[in-house]
Formats: sequence, structure tokens, C-alpha cells
Amino acid sequence: MTSVTVRAPAKINLQLAVGPRRGDGYHDLVTVFHAISLFDDVTVAVTEGPGPDRVLVSGEGAESVPGGSENLALKAAAALAKAAGLVRAADRPIEITIRKRIPVAAGLAGGSADAAAALVACNELWNAGFSQEQLREVAAEVGSDVAFALLGGTAVGQGRGERLTPALASGEYHWVLAVADGQLSTPEVYATLDRLRAARDPGEPGSGPQPEPVLDNALMGALRSGEPAAVGRALSNDMQPAAISLFPALRKTLAVGRELGALGAIVAGSGPTCVFLAADADRAVDLVVSLSGAGVCRAVTRAAGPVPGASIIGSPAGAS
Ligand code: C5P
Repeated sequence: MTSVTVRAPAKINLQLAVGPRRGDGYHDLVTVFHAISLFDDVTVAVTEGPGPDRVLVSGEGAESVPGGSENLALKAAAALAKAAGLVRAADRPIEITIRKRIPVAAGLAGGSADAAAALVACNELWNAGFSQEQLREVAAEVGSDVAFALLGGTAVGQGRGERLTPALASGEYHWVLAVADGQLSTPEVYATLDRLRAARDPGEPGSGPQPEPVLDNALMGALRSGEPAAVGRALSNDMQPAAISLFPALRKTLAVGRELGALGAIVAGSGPTCVFLAADADRAVDLVVSLSGAGVCRAVTRAAGPVPGASIIGSPAGAS
């Protein structure tokens, strides 16, 4: 049996500006993605058939990851086979083993990380020979955040989030993640945002047609200069009010993190994870301890960014 293991990172959004709902149901975004050191490891192995492709999931939240053809990693593998015109032998199914550390349905794009890892692994395993750019095109079909999980680092995302430009960013950032006791569905949070926007009274700030999203120059300047305090001040997320309206406990989690000295506090993507920026690694450790003691979330963990995108960590020539 030949196998490839790929490690792929979680992401947070340092800015998430959401435009109006488009005709296809998606929203145009301007977002600043940032890959953090919280990883899933995905092993893809060619097995002896005949039989269907399979997914095995272990670790954090494994029970709520869809199996079978609903799994994003399997969808990614199928999309790559199709794009590469591969005719796969029915007696050589693949088995995808996902070791999860990224919480599921938490706003951290864990499913997208698994899909990106599967793309890199299958490209290697099947000798498909796709370039990074070709893989990113396939990724964009699989999900809006998958292309960024391939790229990693810090990058500006446009369109649905799949059109990426690496951002000029210096320094290392120390994040603390408050993992909520629950999950949020991304489509539901977008739908709630649309409803909240539609319900605004005429004359209220932000009423009227939703403007197109714009990149935050203050955030980009702060990232270039590598100043955590300025980055902390500039964090923003248009999804936050919708996530809080569906998960009101997040308001308190954010407030407690701020009181405990975080430089910035924000909901991660569509939530419900809350993310706090610490001044340095030591402050991040302190914040983990004090946030854990405050009892405002299920688990607290720490991660640094930026980190690279999906990368092979296991030899392609593993044999059994
Ligand atoms: O692309 P992905 O499958 O990750 O998106 C999940 C859901 O999130 C979409 O079906 C859509 O409801 C919502 N979404 C959106 N606008 C985006 C990205 C996602 O409305 N830019």
C-alpha cells in the first residue's frame, strides 16, 4: 500500500468584509486570511479493492465529520481525478485517514484544510502532476476556503474568498483560541447576516443597499509594519453580529478576553470560535490560563501565525 501524509492549517480572518448576497447565493468578500499553527493531518492511501473510497476520522470532533461522499476531502479527491482526466481502476480505491485537531464547524476552515490536504496527497499519489496554481483552481470548486488552505501564510481573498493575493506581512503573531461549546453552520450565519441587514430601519447607519466590501488599509499597514497592537486594533469581522445573534454567549467570551488584556478579540470566520491576539508568546500563555479559568468556553488553545499551507510530511513511498 502506498500512502502520502499531508499537514494542513486552520485559518482565521483578520478582516472579513461581506458584500451583498449574489445571484448564486454566495457573497462577495474582501478578506485577509491568516494560516495558524493548528493542523489536521491527512493520509491518503491506495488500497486493495474492489470497494468504494473510504474516509476514517479520528480526534477533535471526529463524530461530527461527515463520512462517505459528503466528506470534503473525498470530494476534493474526486474533483482532482476529474480535472486530471484520471481513469481510476475500480480495484484501487483510496482510504483517507483524517487526524483532526482543528475543531469542526468552528469558523476555522477545518474541512477546507482536509480538502486541501487531500488534493496535495492525491496529486502526489496519482502522479497527476498538477502545479500549485492548477491545484488552486480545483480547490476553488471544492469550497471557498480550500484554495487558501493550499497557499497558507497571510493573503487577501476576494470573490467567494478563492481569489488570492499573498499579503506583505512581517512578524509572528500569537493567537489564543476560545473553542465554543457548540457549532455554527456557515450557510446559516450568512443567512442570518442577510436577515439582520434587511431588518435595519431606513436611516439607521448601514441601511440601504449593501456596499461592496473594501480592503482595510489600516490592517494592511499594521501587518506590513508587524505591530501586534495595531493589528489587534484593526481586526474586523462583518459576520460577528450574525454569529453572536445565533450564539449569544460569544459576546461574553469576547468581552472577557478583552478584559484579560488581549490586543484584539474577534469571532473566527462564521464562528463560534473566538480569537484573541496576544502581544507575545508569554502573554499568550498567560491568556490561555486566565481564559480557561474564566469558564467562558469549552477549551482554550494557542496558535501562532502565519504558517505555510498544506505540505507533505510523510514519504510518498510508504509501503506495507
Ligand atoms: O464555499 P463553501 O462550500 O465553503 O461555502 C459554504 C456556504 O457558505 C455556501 O453555501 C454559502 O451559503 C456560504 N458562503 C457565502 N459566501 C461566500 C462563501 C460562503 O454565502 N463567499
